[in-house]
Amino acid sequence: MTASPPVTIVRSVAELRAQVAVWRAAGETLALVPTMGALHAGHMALIFRAHEIASKVCVSLFVNPAQFGKNEDLSTYPRNEASDLALLSGAGVDLLYAPDVTQMYGPGDATRVSVGSLGESLEGLSRPGFFTGVATVVTKLLLQCLPDYALFGEKDFQQLQVIKRLVKDLAIPVSIASVACYRENDGLALSSRNIYLDKDERLIAPALYKAMNQMADAMRSGDTALLSSQAAQAFLIHAGFSSVDYLVACDAETMSDIMSLADLHGRPGRILAAARLGTTRLIDNIEL
Ligand code: PAF
Repeated sequence: MTASPPVTIVRSVAELRAQVAVWRAAGETLALVPTMGALHAGHMALIFRAHEIASKVCVSLFVNPAQFGKNEDLSTYPRNEASDLALLSGAGVDLLYAPDVTQMYGPGDATRVSVGSLGESLEGLSRPGFFTGVATVVTKLLLQCLPDYALFGEKDFQQLQVIKRLVKDLAIPVSIASVACYRENDGLALSSRNIYLDKDERLIAPALYKAMNQMADAMRSGDTALLSSQAAQAFLIHAGFSSVDYLVACDAETMSDIMSLADLHGRPGRILAAARLGTTRLIDNIEL
């Protein structure tokens, strides 16, 4: 068995740009996969796709404090650079960019990127400031690296729309590529936060995917979004979830709520959900 080649690690913008400049001079194309670490098969699917579309793949690993609220899990967010590194090496990643906080938010840092109403609904309502934190760090990463492509998972569907919006509005020269949500066999969407679930909660967790499908089926057979959401929320609570932040049907591009399928006028729709199971908050979405 041959050992996987070690991944080159850079921790500063200057080192990152120096490596990218070497690749540019050699005519390589570059894909960036931004992550907060705690890598799982969902991240590996992004890296796999990155290799298909570009000749070099850079993964960034930065647990971004700006996207965590005061009472959220910044200090306990799973961090294990050594095991992440082993996975990245096995996946043939060319470069790991792992800056520290001072590299990303240097002395006097004051600039924030905010995407308006797109970032204020759903996750933005439940987690005020979250999308400004995400939009700011993603803008920084894109401008630091200037890749040809950047890849994001559809698991964080609203985040993906926010990123597409900021790239368009700020004319950042990068193509955004997305990869479908990666699920366990029982339907649970992979997330770095799934490790917070205890054994019983892990058995209950797939009910979120079931509830979204139940809602989509009800809407397809003519029910309103409100009625079908109420039924699906009751199902979730009955299954053992403690509360539901939202379970809604949206226009997939504008993220505006719809009342029924007819409101889409043939455009793509999405069901999005966030619910709490014990102390863990799960989010997910499916096509409508
Ligand atoms: O989805 C994530 O892991 C993060 O929100 C991202 C895009 C890496 C920004 O910190």
